[in-house]
Amino acid sequence: MGCRLVAKWVLIRGQKRGGKMEWDSGSDMSMEEEDHMQICEDEGFLMNDGGPVPIAMDNLLHSTPCGFAVTDALEPDQPIIYVNAVFEYVTGYKAEEILGRNCRFLQYRGPFAQRRHPLVDSMVVSEIRRCLDEGVEFQGELLNFRKDGTPLMNRLRLTPIHGDDGIITHIIGIQLFTEANIDLGPMPLPFYKEAITRCADRSLSDPFLYRPAAIGQGHFCREICGIFQLSDEVLAQKILSRLTPRDVASVGSVCKRLYQLTKNEDLWRMVCQNAWGSETTRVLETVPGAKRLGWGRLARELTTLEAAAWRKLTVGGAVEPSRCNFSACAVGNRLVLFGGEGVNMQPMNDTFVLDLSAANPEWRHVNVSSPPPGRWGHTLSCLNGSWLVVFGGCGRQGLLNDVFILDLDAQQPTWREVAGSAPPLPRSWHSSCTLDGTKLVVSGGCADSGVLLSDTFLLDLTMEKPIWKEIPVSWTPPSRLGHSLTVYGGRKILMFGGLAKSGPLRLRSSDVYTIDLSEEEPKWRYLTGSGMPGAGNPGGKAPPPRLDHVAVSLPGGRVLIFGGSVAGLHSASQLYLLDPTEEKPTWRILNVPGQQPRFAWGHSTCVVGGTRALVLGGHTGEEWILNELHELSLASKHGLD
Ligand SMILES: Cc1cc2nc3c(=O)[nH]c(=O)nc-3n(C[C@H](O)[C@H](O)[C@H](O)COP(=O)(O)O)c2cc1C
Repeated sequence: MGCRLVAKWVLIRGQKRGGKMEWDSGSDMSMEEEDHMQICEDEGFLMNDGGPVPIAMDNLLHSTPCGFAVTDALEPDQPIIYVNAVFEYVTGYKAEEILGRNCRFLQYRGPFAQRRHPLVDSMVVSEIRRCLDEGVEFQGELLNFRKDGTPLMNRLRLTPIHGDDGIITHIIGIQLFTEANIDLGPMPLPFYKEAITRCADRSLSDPFLYRPAAIGQGHFCREICGIFQLSDEVLAQKILSRLTPRDVASVGSVCKRLYQLTKNEDLWRMVCQNAWGSETTRVLETVPGAKRLGWGRLARELTTLEAAAWRKLTVGGAVEPSRCNFSACAVGNRLVLFGGEGVNMQPMNDTFVLDLSAANPEWRHVNVSSPPPGRWGHTLSCLNGSWLVVFGGCGRQGLLNDVFILDLDAQQPTWREVAGSAPPLPRSWHSSCTLDGTKLVVSGGCADSGVLLSDTFLLDLTMEKPIWKEIPVSWTPPSRLGHSLTVYGGRKILMFGGLAKSGPLRLRSSDVYTIDLSEEEPKWRYLTGSGMPGAGNPGGKAPPPRLDHVAVSLPGGRVLIFGGSVAGLHSASQLYLLDPTEEKPTWRILNVPGQQPRFAWGHSTCVVGGTRALVLGGHTGEEWILNELHELSLASKHGLD
């Protein structure tokens, strides 16, 4: 509004000084006209050459199809100080983008063009320059371009405005825009294609090309004619969604407008998806109550872990007979347990399921046909949302390297052996994880005669005849068993702890290694741990070395470690957090309230829905605690219950 008043004032002053605002005026104003002008000014009216025709200023600006621009002639290069809504609407440039600039940008095709378009008549441009230099009026026609690159003909009239001392203080430009029927082809950048089509269509019914129209339509168009034809809101959200949840939260605290923008649920969903991957977001979507909590809150809680809490879960049924060294994993909201070591070292091959989404969850023994041979020290992993895959372990006849698959959602669940060619050595106490929901990764473990292994194998289970592939690396972390593998950032794997070979000894480890399997030549990297050169504890408050611990992977690649077999049995129940994506990854202790599991080793953990880790089983040194189930919830309960 302020700008419009300035323009109005300049316009009126210009008239009094002999400025001509009408298209065909050639004569200067008489004294009488000047007097009348004074009256008009007071009443907010303007006149034309033909006499005192009272036209309301607002009408002039709003109901005629003319663009209107004012430049400051006392500043170098005629910077624009005002443009009207018609100018903004027809050209697609918003006032805030162009105030302070010279009007010649309209001769450039689109905001990224580096020079005047060759079809713009250079003779006309020279004539404008001459008129401006000589302080006389200009009238002429030249080619201009909308922001989206579509051409426009501009019947331009430039009128100098003189100050009291006769010096030209402002230039007023009036633009009568018409459609230019020139086919210039698409803009060089692909995103303009759509824009051109849209704008070309729009021009057919453009209210500002010769026809008067309500200004409100201009406001609507201003919204959709933002950068790259996206509204400011959408654009801002696209940019914001590329930031980390922490950054979006910080940006939101900077100013009110950004705060409002960061309150959008769709934005937070995009932020989570971009930061944590679509698979994690998809899983989070299935968490009961997550909707109520909202993506913004979920992102905050999973980032800060402020709401993390332990609680003991009481469920019906029981896993019987008792056992240890079994393996469990989560399949959606179900927990599946397979095998283990029963009394008298008896290898077991039964399957149990606990459905956590049931009103009263209870362990259920599932009758599955053709079960794999009994075993302990094996791994059980989830693939593809409903498949379970068992690998290796120690059976009645010794160590195993077989692979069995079960589709839990099949009408009659049946274990099926997958004969992967070139399998790794038989082993137990190895570690496994899955990539892309389709590939099983197996690392290390203990081979025959107690030999520790350091290899990493991958089996793509989508292949008709799966083939085991050893990841070729020039260097491997020391061989080990009882370590953990967690996946982050798509195809990166983090290895922690275990009982590792150290010269002639076998020592508990707190070392962290990573490998990126998306690289052409994957390499193991030493991230942090006791062997780091320099200070004794360079990676922060590192967890004491351990094996058979629990490792929980969190959205964004962070890993939580607790439990396991530690020398001295002291701090194993502490929760340790590490973010491998940090420049200098640092261990932190996470103090979590609630009732945590008893200190034990050989716990089995499953992460359910990305927001809760379930810990079951384990050995306290005195007893097996098979039917104790604890939950570490990472998001607040009121949203999830
Ligand atoms: C008030 C004012 C409005 C103008 N409006 C336009 C316009 O709508 N389109 C255009 O191509 N040039 C317009 N011009 C002309 C350019 O700003 C510039 O003066 C012209 O291109 C000649 O200068 P140059 O050779 O340095 O570019 C306007 C100039 C003034 C002072």
